Amino acid sequence: METRPWTSERATRSPFVLPSGLRGRLAGRLMLRMNKQDEVARLLAVRPGERVLEIGYGPGGLIRRLERTPAGRVCGVDPSPEMRGMAARRAADADLRVGTAEDTGFGDAEFDCVVSVNSVALWPCLESGLDELRRVTRPGGRVLIAWHGGRRPPRAARKFRLPDDQLDRIEEALRRRFTDVDRHELSDLTAFTARRDRQGGPEGRRGAGQGLRARPP
Ligand SMILES: C[S@@+](CC[C@H](N)C(=O)[O-])C[C@H]1O[C@@H](n2cnc3c(N)ncnc32)[C@H](O)[C@@H]1O
Repeated sequence: METRPWTSERATRSPFVLPSGLRGRLAGRLMLRMNKQDEVARLLAVRPGERVLEIGYGPGGLIRRLERTPAGRVCGVDPSPEMRGMAARRAADADLRVGTAEDTGFGDAEFDCVVSVNSVALWPCLESGLDELRRVTRPGGRVLIAWHGGRRPPRAARKFRLPDDQLDRIEEALRRRFTDVDRHELSDLTAFTARRDRQGGPEGRRGAGQGLRARPP
């Protein structure tokens, strides 16, 4: 399957972007080995009973970790049926669906936390994805978005780091939709944390989608 991420000029069939078939499953195994999820899980700090959604769960490394937290409900969306199969084998109790950041299929304000690791740069439209994340996060709930980078990225992941202007674009797009936006340099990830305003947020007061149109890349 071909897709054009918002970070790229060209469409791609990379098995790391939309994993499918045997190449997709092999890519999934590599992701499980390389993408360590401990720091993200610590930063997210799930509290007892919280409802958590992971966007782009891949082979399920973080979903498996989330199941070991006191979360009340662990859900996920990923466009790849292969990744759904791999993740479901690791996390029998999670509600894992085929879906995308732009269209999760979940209801308004269903989640206390929404998290996405090594997926945001692959979405076709950053703005549509963040609009949807905001919609499914409850007022006062939090969002964590992480991508390859950080203080000591492993050699194999260095080529995936985003240039500063694209990291700034993620941060600005978060600021237009959320409050308390912070950037964290973890050991091998750059992570953004944010909170949905309790009253609906600066843009949210004008209504979801209004004033949040996708900007040209
Ligand atoms: C590089 S993998 C990372 C998987 C996992 N989060 C990890 O850290 O190991 C990227 C994942 O993002 C998913 N993805 C691609 N486009 C997406 C979209 N528009 N919305 C949500 N997930 C997407 C892919 O199917 C893939 O499973």
